Amino acid sequence: MEVEHVIHRGFAIAALEDALLLGSIGGLPEYDRRVWELHPLVVRRDRRLRGVGQALVAAFEDEAQRRGALTLTLGTDDDGGQTLIAGVSLYRNVPRHIAELHDLGGSHPLLFSRRLGYVVTGIMPDANGPGRPDTSMSKPARSERGIMQGDGVENEPRLASADADG
Ligand SMILES: CC(C)(COP(=O)(O)OP(=O)(O)OC[C@H]1O[C@@H](n2cnc3c(N)ncnc32)[C@H](O)[C@@H]1OP(=O)(O)O)[C@@H](O)C(=O)NCCC(=O)NCCS
Repeated sequence: MEVEHVIHRGFAIAALEDALLLGSIGGLPEYDRRVWELHPLVVRRDRRLRGVGQALVAAFEDEAQRRGALTLTLGTDDDGGQTLIAGVSLYRNVPRHIAELHDLGGSHPLLFSRRLGYVVTGIMPDANGPGRPDTSMSKPARSERGIMQGDGVENEPRLASADADG
């Protein structure tokens, strides 16, 4: 259902290895299509850490840029106390919490997003329940990519896209 919604409003891209779905990514327009949100993104567990996520993000960035994006953005939830901003009162000093935000266990997806050049641009307190914030991360659409599509991908997946226009 969520995929249908994403395709209806924006676009979706799948990474395929033959008929096997390795992962997928969606792009949703915001702010009159000047901002494109990366959502959702998921890679099959047994194919992670092989460059598939990175290739999907690169494809999302290319497509969003083609559609006129100035800013690329994503939200990364902390609903399990995995980052420093979980369970604290964020309102007291928002800039400090943003500046000091880091992963506690070494595996929160914000590390992946940082690796691809996204920086923290906001925090939404209690977005996932009390003490469970959402973090916005963004990057300019036309910046040089830190990682180019295809780098580090063991067996480069085939990418297939879909949107409401077909
Ligand atoms: C996050 C996710 C999409 C990453 O996909 P992936 O295919 O494993 O990522 P890649 O192999 O392309 O990784 C690219 C880089 O990010 C790093 N990375 C990936 N996941 C990471 C994590 N959880 N923590 C730290 N670094 C990570 C990789 O080591 C790699 O860095 P390197 O080039 O220096 O080796 C995948 O773990 C996933 O589907 N997670 C569940 C859903 C989710 O969290 N979605 C993201 C919402 S923003």
